[in-house]
Amino acid sequence: MNFQCNNSSNSNILQIIKEEVIECKKCNLSRTRKNAVPGEGPTQASIMFIGEAPGAKEDDTGIPFVGRAGNLLEKIFNNIPIFREDVFITNIVKCRPPNNRNPLDIEIKSCTPYLINQINLINPRIIVTLGKYALLNFSPTGKISEDHGKMLIWNKRILYPVYHPAAALRNKNILKSLESDLKKIPEILLLTLSKKLKK
Ligand code: URA
Ligand code: SF4
Repeated sequence: MNFQCNNSSNSNILQIIKEEVIECKKCNLSRTRKNAVPGEGPTQASIMFIGEAPGAKEDDTGIPFVGRAGNLLEKIFNNIPIFREDVFITNIVKCRPPNNRNPLDIEIKSCTPYLINQINLINPRIIVTLGKYALLNFSPTGKISEDHGKMLIWNKRILYPVYHPAAALRNKNILKSLESDLKKIPEILLLTLSKKLKK
């Protein structure tokens, strides 16, 4: 696929990826899912949020982060403010693992090309990974307890790991870290607009 194209063809290709994901049978998760969850957001989003895998509510609806973790994320967004409709939200693995188990390496490997194509098309200024597994996908030696809230570099892009909102629902300290890390995103976005870091 050629990614050197204009915005309207980018959004067409993004739509084609969505349709491919919805029909995809590349791994065994296709047998147990109700709906694949390709992700949603504008083609030219400056920020991409990447979670681990859909949960029950996402599997029911085909929309990412609409369960309890998603509600918390949106609540934190509202206080910053970050507008959900301005950012692209997706997951490493697009189909729900049974009983919300962690995705297997083979499932991640099968699904990652969709994510990489989404990143190349959207061309975000910041990739925000939510939780340990999303971080590990970009930084195999990463440690969420040390790396959260740090600006890292991945393929010439800013990688900004934060805790997963589901972990924040279980632990007050994690919630505080998640809130303060997400609060810094507008500032980081401004930094990327300065000449020095401009793509
Ligand atoms: N948790 C995730 O990692 N992704 C979702 O879409 C929902 C919950
Ligand atoms: Fe395809 Fe990814 Fe779903 Fe597996 S998880 S069936 S690779 S879309």
